[in-house]
Amino acid sequence: RFIAVIPAGGVGTRLWPLSRAAAPKFLHDLTGSGSTLLRATYDRLHPLAGNRMLVVTGHAHRDAVCRQLPEVQDADLVLESEPKDSGAAIGLAAAILHERDPDTIMGSFAADHVISPDNLFQQAVREAIHTAATGKIVTIGIKPTHPSTGFGYIRSGKALHIEGAPSAHDVVEFVEKPDEAVAQQYVDSGDYVWNAGMFVAPVSLMLKHLEANQPELFQGLQEIARAWDTPQRDEVTARIWPTLPKIAIDYAVAEPAAEAGDVAVVPGSFRWDDVGDFASVGRLNSAKEVDDVTVLGEGARVFTENSSGVVVTDTKRVIALIGIQDVVVVDTPDALLVTTMANSQRVKAAVDALKASG
Ligand code: GDD
Ligand code: MG
Repeated sequence: RFIAVIPAGGVGTRLWPLSRAAAPKFLHDLTGSGSTLLRATYDRLHPLAGNRMLVVTGHAHRDAVCRQLPEVQDADLVLESEPKDSGAAIGLAAAILHERDPDTIMGSFAADHVISPDNLFQQAVREAIHTAATGKIVTIGIKPTHPSTGFGYIRSGKALHIEGAPSAHDVVEFVEKPDEAVAQQYVDSGDYVWNAGMFVAPVSLMLKHLEANQPELFQGLQEIARAWDTPQRDEVTARIWPTLPKIAIDYAVAEPAAEAGDVAVVPGSFRWDDVGDFASVGRLNSAKEVDDVTVLGEGARVFTENSSGVVVTDTKRVIALIGIQDVVVVDTPDALLVTTMANSQRVKAAVDALKASG
């Protein structure tokens, strides 16, 4: 009854020029493992879901996703004509699965995270599935290390004492992306964990909260889902999808469902990184560094002397770094980024400015 959903969207702008609209973050191997983040996500879920997986992505990524995941059947590949954020992506998956079998428990897992080891992840998800079966939307909590403003924060309450899920707790509050002062308070209090961006829940409960909080989105998704496994699919989707409101699942469902007492959390003891910027790419690959420089890229030729930092390349050009510290160099055929580790968060603002200036 468990079906895994992989929403694969978003551009990962802070990883420009490697990650961009045409080749977003999930299509890259950012760990040097030989697998893209999307493929690694699929492999990590396979022991839990077998081939029962739904992938939601943009039309533009269809070919790349099919190459990465040849196992995924046409009916299980949900293609969006334009991005409508995670509310629509995950909501549509819930609605389609509900049409097929209303008793399904779904688990939605971001396509672009780095997680290890797999067995600890699978253990947490098994607990989440047991907990979801008691009528909860279950999140996975990660111990925060700094007051990030890019994550959701979860305040857990009392233990739930569920068989097969000894560590499941009730959730008192879910706050998506608080500002830095609030995030700092949460981290200092020790009462909050980060939301790992995973939601395990009965599809009926996801839809119930979507209907209560985003009725317009819910109605549209219902109409598309009813047509999904029929010849009307394309016509109905083309008519309705562009009209759907754009909202993240965290605001559309997680926050209000927590307020209603329907959310639980299972702590994740695995290593988790959302690889948001090149500093974290550097951290993740530090084991492979030569001298002090991490080099990522097929056949990259990089000469370093008295330097430290991270170099990512998808060109065949020879790169030399001499006497520069904590630098980030990202070399692609049509764009070159040079910044420092400490400034790697600011790439998004630079890309936005570049776009604005044409
Ligand atoms: N198909 C599709 N279409 N997928 C999408 C879209 C879309 O338009 N927008 C987002 N997604 C997917 C992303 O690929 C990712 O797998 C997931 O939905 C979450 O979206 P993000 O845009 O990456 O969200 P976020 O990182 O800002 O925040 C979420 O993840 C954090 C952990 O990384 C939230 O759930 C936070 O609460 C959480 O802490
Ligand atoms: Mg993300």
